[in-house]
Amino acid sequence: MLDQLLQSELAAGEQLRPARLLDAMRYASLGGGKRLRPFLVVETANLFGVPRHQALMVAAALECVHCYSLVHDDLPAMDDDALRRGRPTVHKAFDEATAILAGDSLLTLAFDILSRPETHPDAAIRVELISALAKAAGVGGMAGGQILDLAAEGRFANGQQSPLTVEDIKALQAMKTGALLVFACLSGGILGQAQSNARPALARYGSAIGEAFQIADDLLDVDGDAATVGKATGKDAAANKATFVSLLGVEGARERLQALVQEAESAISSLGDDSGVLKTAAHFIANRRN
Ligand code: IPE
Ligand code: IPE
Ligand code: MG
Ligand code: MG
Ligand code: MG
Repeated sequence: MLDQLLQSELAAGEQLRPARLLDAMRYASLGGGKRLRPFLVVETANLFGVPRHQALMVAAALECVHCYSLVHDDLPAMDDDALRRGRPTVHKAFDEATAILAGDSLLTLAFDILSRPETHPDAAIRVELISALAKAAGVGGMAGGQILDLAAEGRFANGQQSPLTVEDIKALQAMKTGALLVFACLSGGILGQAQSNARPALARYGSAIGEAFQIADDLLDVDGDAATVGKATGKDAAANKATFVSLLGVEGARERLQALVQEAESAISSLGDDSGVLKTAAHFIANRRN
C-alpha cells in the first residue's frame, strides 16, 4: 500500500518531470527499507480510528523525509557510504549531484503530500502536521542531530575534541533519530485529534523507541554483519565516533536497551488494550538484526 502510494507519486507524468531525478527518487525510496516509521504512523493512527488512507499519506510523507536523510547521510561529504539496503547508495548508482537533488526533492515532496486535502480535510490539522514534521526534520531535529553527530567524530574540532557524556549522546540521538520517530508516533494522535493527555504518552513511547532504535543501530555497527544489515559495519569505531556503545560498552548499551523497551511498553499501555502491536514493535526495534 505504501509502496503503491510512493510509486504513483513518483510516476512519470504529463508535467515536465526529469526522468533521471525521478529514477533516483524511486531508487532511494522504493524497495528495501524496513518501513518502520510508516508502520508506526499507521499503528498509532489505528489507536484513534483514523481512516487508513489518511495515515498512509502521512506515512508516505515521513518515509520521503527518512529516505532523503539516508541519501544525504551516505554522501561522500557525510558518511561516505557505498552500500545501503544491500545495494549501491544513490550517489554510487547515479552521481553525487543527482543524489543531492533526489534528497532535496524527496524532502519537499513530503510537504507537498501533507498539504493536500486527502491527508486530512481540516486545513488546521494539515498545518499542524506540516509544522511538526518540519520541526522534526530541521535544525532542532534530524538535520541538527546530524551535524552534532559529525561533530562527535571530531570533524569540526580544531585540535582538542571535548569528550561527550552519555547525556550529550542522548540529546544528539534524540534529534538525529528520535525526532522523526517521535513524529511518527505523534502524527497518529494529530490525525485522530487525540485528547491532549494521549499526546505525552505517544511522545514518551516515541522517544523511548527512538533511543532504543539508535542504540540497536550502534550495536549492529559493532556486531552486525554487513550482508544482513545491508550497509557497512564497523564505521563508528573507525571514525572514532562517540556513541552509546563507545560510552557504555556493549553490555551497558544492551542493558539500557532493555530499560527503554520497558519504558516504551509502560508509556503505550496507558493508551489502552489496543496497543499490543506497538509493544511488540518496541521488542522488534530492540532486537533487530538489520
Ligand atoms: C537507518 O534507519 C538510519 C538510522 C536512523 C539509524 P532504518 O534502519 O530505519 O533504515 P531503513 O529505512 O530500514 O533502510
Ligand atoms: C543516520 O545515522 C541517521 C539519519 C540519516 C538521520 P547513521 O549514519 O548511524 O545511519 P546509518 O548507520 O548510516 O544507517
Ligand atoms: Mg551518519
Ligand atoms: Mg550513516
Ligand atoms: Mg549507524
